[in-house]
Amino acid sequence: MIDLTDDTWWRTAVIYQIYPRSFADSNGDGIGDLPGITRRLDHVASLGADAIWLSPFYPSPQRDGGYDVADYRNVDPQFGTLEDFDALVARAHELALRVVVDLVPNHASADHVAFQAALAAEPGSAERGLFHFCDGLGEFGELPPNDWQSMFEGSAWTRVTEIDGTPGQWYLHLFDETQPDWNWDAPGVRVDFETTLRFWLDRGVDGFRVDVCDALIKAPGLPSWPYPTHGVVQPIEGRTPPMWDQEGIHEIFRDWRAILDSYEGSRILCAEAWLPPERTARIVRPDEMHQAFNFAYLEQLWDADAIAETIVSSLAANDAVGAPTTWVLSNHDVMRHASRFGYDGPVALEHGVGVDDPQPDRPLGLRRARAATLLMLALPGSAYLYQGEELGLPEVTDLPDEARQDPVWARSHQQIRGRDGCRVPFPWDDSTSSNGFSSVAATDTWLPTPSYYAEFSAAAQGLQLESTLSLYRSTLAVRRSADLQGSALEWDSMPNSGTIAFSRGDTHVVTNVAGEPVPLPSDATILVASDPEVRATRLIARDTTVWFTTI
Ligand code: NOJ
Ligand code: CA
Repeated sequence: MIDLTDDTWWRTAVIYQIYPRSFADSNGDGIGDLPGITRRLDHVASLGADAIWLSPFYPSPQRDGGYDVADYRNVDPQFGTLEDFDALVARAHELALRVVVDLVPNHASADHVAFQAALAAEPGSAERGLFHFCDGLGEFGELPPNDWQSMFEGSAWTRVTEIDGTPGQWYLHLFDETQPDWNWDAPGVRVDFETTLRFWLDRGVDGFRVDVCDALIKAPGLPSWPYPTHGVVQPIEGRTPPMWDQEGIHEIFRDWRAILDSYEGSRILCAEAWLPPERTARIVRPDEMHQAFNFAYLEQLWDADAIAETIVSSLAANDAVGAPTTWVLSNHDVMRHASRFGYDGPVALEHGVGVDDPQPDRPLGLRRARAATLLMLALPGSAYLYQGEELGLPEVTDLPDEARQDPVWARSHQQIRGRDGCRVPFPWDDSTSSNGFSSVAATDTWLPTPSYYAEFSAAAQGLQLESTLSLYRSTLAVRRSADLQGSALEWDSMPNSGTIAFSRGDTHVVTNVAGEPVPLPSDATILVASDPEVRATRLIARDTTVWFTTI
């Protein structure tokens, strides 16, 4: 069971992200679901994680993988029922796994009753006031109210047809046109989200990962911003983008924190905000959120200096507010790190890869991914893992284009493939053509399941001592037992350029990113090594991380 008296669990927690559509299908419709997850929670517990984070499973037309929520306080029938959710939480808690769910407060689905009511109501009505409805520019209002662009390409505005059939107002959507942005200046929106928080807290959840939480408040007057935003948001010409990181977001987070704090145990908020470390840190001040993903770290290339600098700046920014740093290398929005590191040079994180694009070097990517993971798990703070990274899964780069579901593919007029390649069903074993994910054929799972994923299956890797799965298990076990968590990071002198070296208490960590092989000290006892060869050679070669002690 989880320990409700432990109010610091989240400071060091390893939290495993589950993408419900792709984890395990219990009823043979080719789509993962809540009962499927419940049955497979042993895998997460035996990995050594402390919690799971579930991407959205709420009623939704699934235009953006469920990040288009039509009803915030229910379960989509394709994923199960509220009773299935309760059973999942009960089983997780039994296994000492906490449960974090996704809160999507920036936008609803266009199918949400409030948006349907807004469409049916008059301009200027209270119903429209819950969203950002504006008159268009131009003689006939035929131009969008401003020049903002959608994160998924194209304008961030869509024009509606009024009930009398005439072309009418426009509404704002920072994402797909089926995801209208809520107007957080409307008190009704705030009240409704507080009800949603309480609904899930009452059901026993241990926290919320908060989707694009830095976009809730828009600058007054919605001033011009003609630039697209991708990745970590930076001011341009000294201006903060008017849709990100506005001061008003903090008051909302403080209200939510007070609600969470009124519940038994330590329930947490984790910010999804693509901001630089010093801005992210403001979200985790003591009375706001507990954690915020460190996307500046995720964005770093396999470059020792860049990685070390980001570690230093992230720790400094978070130390200044007394918050832990929250590391992450993969999630459902970015190319899997086992593929990302298989390129030399930058990759567009969210753009996906097609068969005709340059392909990652798979062995190199996996070798570096194992090293990168061991480095991340040695850093002070919390870490998020994304389902499948413990198997070293590569991005699927040969999805047929007609199978693609990411809305960016259509909105970009088939220029940007998007994020489907990291969302492919999880390979459990080789018992069916869809690798134990579902009883249906590989071609009938919601995204087709590639046959080569079978070689990465959890069942196969569980039996191999040197598999990536075994490496994750042993590393997480050492992370727990070695007194890493209690000790701050101390930089050790770098053995040579291209390496990163530090200690946590008695544990030394060396990552050789691009340097000459580093000999292990003669008295070193290896705790974990991303490359098993190190045990024989006693050399830390390129693309390798080793944890060791010398006592
Ligand atoms: C971030 C989510 O992780 C992503 O999947 C989604 O498309 C956008 N926010 C919009 O909700
Ligand atoms: Ca199913």
